Amino acid sequence: MIDVIRVSDRAAGARVVAEYLIPRFRDPAPVAIGLATGETMVPVYRALVATLAADPRGAGAHVTTVNLDEYWPLAPDHPGSFRAFMERMLLGPLKPYWAAVHFLDGAASDPVAECRRYDALLDRVPRAVQLLGIGVNGHIGFNEPGTPFTGRTRLVSLTHTTRRRNQDLFPGPLPAQALTMGIRDIMAAETIVLVAFGAAKRAALTRALTGPVTPECPASVLQTHPAVTVIADQEAWAAR
Ligand code: F6R
Repeated sequence: MIDVIRVSDRAAGARVVAEYLIPRFRDPAPVAIGLATGETMVPVYRALVATLAADPRGAGAHVTTVNLDEYWPLAPDHPGSFRAFMERMLLGPLKPYWAAVHFLDGAASDPVAECRRYDALLDRVPRAVQLLGIGVNGHIGFNEPGTPFTGRTRLVSLTHTTRRRNQDLFPGPLPAQALTMGIRDIMAAETIVLVAFGAAKRAALTRALTGPVTPECPASVLQTHPAVTVIADQEAWAAR
C-alpha cells in the first residue's frame, strides 16, 4: 500500500517527514530507524533537528539508527563519507537520543565479511521505519537497476548516472563502488518513507509508483510493501 503526500516544495516536504518521525523520538520506547543520506535528506534532517533541539522532549538514548549505504573504499572520517554526513546533519546535533548508531564500514579491508556483519545486524535490529531517497534511475540505497529484489548487503559498482550526480556533492574523486543494504532488508522495515524532491526525480518516481514491478526500476518493489508513505513535491509528482 502506497500513500502519496504531495507537498508544495522541499521545505513543506521536510516538515512532513519530520512530523512523521518526531513521535518516534518523543516516545521513550526503544526504536530502530533506517536512515538515508543525500541532498534530499538535508532539509529533512534540518527540520528534524530544528524541532527536536528546540523542544528536546523524550531525549534519552532510545533511538537506534542503521544507515543504508557507504562508499567503498573510503575512510569513515572522510568529509564525503555518508558517516560524516550523518554526524554533521543529525547524529551530532541530536546526541542525547541515540542508543546506538550503525554504519557500513567504508574502510573494511574485507567487504564481503563487512556485508555479512551488516546482514547479521539487520537480522538483530528490526526497523520500525526506513527512510529512503530515490535515484534518478530508480535506485534505492545503492541498489542500481537490475538488482534482484531478494539481495542482501553487498559491494556494488555505481552506475555512470549515479556517479555523475553524486560527484557534485563529493569532495575529491568519487569512489566507483559502495556497500549497500539490499532490497530484501529495505523491504523488511515495518514502514517505509520515501522522499522525492525536484523535477529530476519525476520520471523515476512515476515509474516506481505506476509502472511495472521490475528490478529495472528498483523502487518499484515498494508497490509490494504493506506500508509505504511517499512524500513528494509538485515537481517530483504531478497532480493526477
Ligand atoms: C543515500 C541513498 C541513495 C539516495 C538517492 C537520492 O543514502 O541511499 O539512494 O537516497 O541517490 O540522492 P539525492 O537525495 O542526493 O538525490
